Amino acid sequence: MSKNKNRKKISRRKFLKGTGAAFAVATAAPKLEAQRPASTAPAAVVDPSVPRTTIRVVINGAERRIEVEDRWTLVELLRDHLQLTGTKIGCDPGECGACTVLLDGKPVYSCSNLAVWADGRSVQTVEGLAENGRLDPLQRSFIEHDGPQCGFCTSGQLMAAKGLLTRNAHPTADDVRAGLTGNLCRCSNYNHYVEAVLAAAKGGAR
Ligand code: FES
Ligand code: FES
Repeated sequence: MSKNKNRKKISRRKFLKGTGAAFAVATAAPKLEAQRPASTAPAAVVDPSVPRTTIRVVINGAERRIEVEDRWTLVELLRDHLQLTGTKIGCDPGECGACTVLLDGKPVYSCSNLAVWADGRSVQTVEGLAENGRLDPLQRSFIEHDGPQCGFCTSGQLMAAKGLLTRNAHPTADDVRAGLTGNLCRCSNYNHYVEAVLAAAKGGAR
């Protein structure tokens, strides 16, 4: 395949389409008082005019039953209500990939998915990568290859890479670039991230 064709494959537009992002809905979601950490926030005031739904979702392997406001995005649920703050918010919204999590094993922008859409599904966040206190091989490889600089994009890069290796255990460098194309790095450390994912794949990271 020619280089030009490969470049076509690595398209942010294609990635964004694949995330199932509902940018209009997410943009319209009002900012919530409940965005403060739970430990410092006053008791949440339930607005009866806001529709709420109880969802069942498996988060990092644990089944949860949670009542959510229908307007909450998935990243609001994770960060503001479950204190899973490893998932970052780097834009407003749907541009940077810092909020990437796995939804049924597929990388998605959690800022652009509603929490209610996770009903009956499984979500994996960066907190779910390490097992029994041992870092995932991808995490170790990121460290060994100096992937994180400021680190703000790192959890999103990790989850995008995890999703890639789950569906393609032996990616080429172009495959990795395509898999991470929806994840921006303001430190521009892209080559180190690609090397880290390739090294993890060679070591059998899954
Ligand atoms: S915070 Fe979700 S794409 Fe930037
Ligand atoms: S390491 Fe700083 S934004 Fe990626």
